[in-house]
Amino acid sequence: MSNAVSLKEVYKDYFKVGTAVNNRCLDRDKDIILKHFNTVTCEYEMKLAGLRRPDLTFDFANADKIYNFANENGIEVRGHNLVWHQGIYTEVLESMTKQQLIELMTEHMRTVGERYKKVVCWDVVNEAISDDWNGFLRDTVWRRKLGDDYYMTVFRLAREIIPDKTLVYNDFNEYEEPKRNNIIKLVKQLKTEGLIDAVGMQCHINILYCTADDIKRSFEEFSKLGLPIHVTEIDIGLPEMNDPAPLSSMTQEQREQQASLYEALFATMREYSSIIDSATVWGVRDSQSWLNNFRFERECTALLFDKDGQPTEAFYRITQF
Ligand code: XIL
Repeated sequence: MSNAVSLKEVYKDYFKVGTAVNNRCLDRDKDIILKHFNTVTCEYEMKLAGLRRPDLTFDFANADKIYNFANENGIEVRGHNLVWHQGIYTEVLESMTKQQLIELMTEHMRTVGERYKKVVCWDVVNEAISDDWNGFLRDTVWRRKLGDDYYMTVFRLAREIIPDKTLVYNDFNEYEEPKRNNIIKLVKQLKTEGLIDAVGMQCHINILYCTADDIKRSFEEFSKLGLPIHVTEIDIGLPEMNDPAPLSSMTQEQREQQASLYEALFATMREYSSIIDSATVWGVRDSQSWLNNFRFERECTALLFDKDGQPTEAFYRITQF
């Protein structure tokens, strides 16, 4: 492994530094994880469909592996997630009544709460806001079954069943104003009943759509909520998401822009560090990134370690300040 400085050491006076892990990368990237990160999030293994078979019986094997690895090494685990429109068995949930769905969630929260005692927080509801910025909520099976205020119901349940956990609302495109306003509206509703403890800003950003100013503005606006912020899923994609062009077509200039945006993001997070709990990158090395399979198959370089596990230019830019 390279003799680069340790991320968690560099940031120890600012916030925790995390990565998304899965069972495949746990062995391969063990050294990188141990050296650089003090919090991890399961990329899939703690989602409903990661914890349960299609008949909804539990299979804890994959989540346990990550949870035990983290505990044995003194690494914190973020719980991701309880209610989402993906990572579920939609048809199975669709066939259930409102009451059955509430019972399922009650059992689910009780079970994960008891089994994963050292998980510090849960993304209770993930990505509830609509991609149609004129609307408010995304259409999901949870919403159809439990009603338009389903996120209130789910957070109330979580508060009751896992009272010792930090309860988080987590969403993406938070740096775009209309989406941000909707996220803030939802969080304020949760706050009226004291149901939320932190806001999760995913931070899947892209050099084509997000500037250093957008980043700064989003931290400023979220800081006004008076809640801690978890930056939960950082990556900076280079290509236009709807463009199947392979990464090799990316220019040196774009790579430079990416490194600068990483630098600006981490500088802004340091500026707001008094309210930032943690900054988690969505994957250890580039070959693990979900962006490699998002809409098109391609080779993405959006993370802090390249496909060979070597620190990228962005890594050096965020560790030298
Ligand atoms: C992605 C994972 O990275 C993939 O491995 C999985 O197949 C699908 O989900 N927003 C989220 C994450 O909240 O859970 C998603 O993770 C990426 C987008």
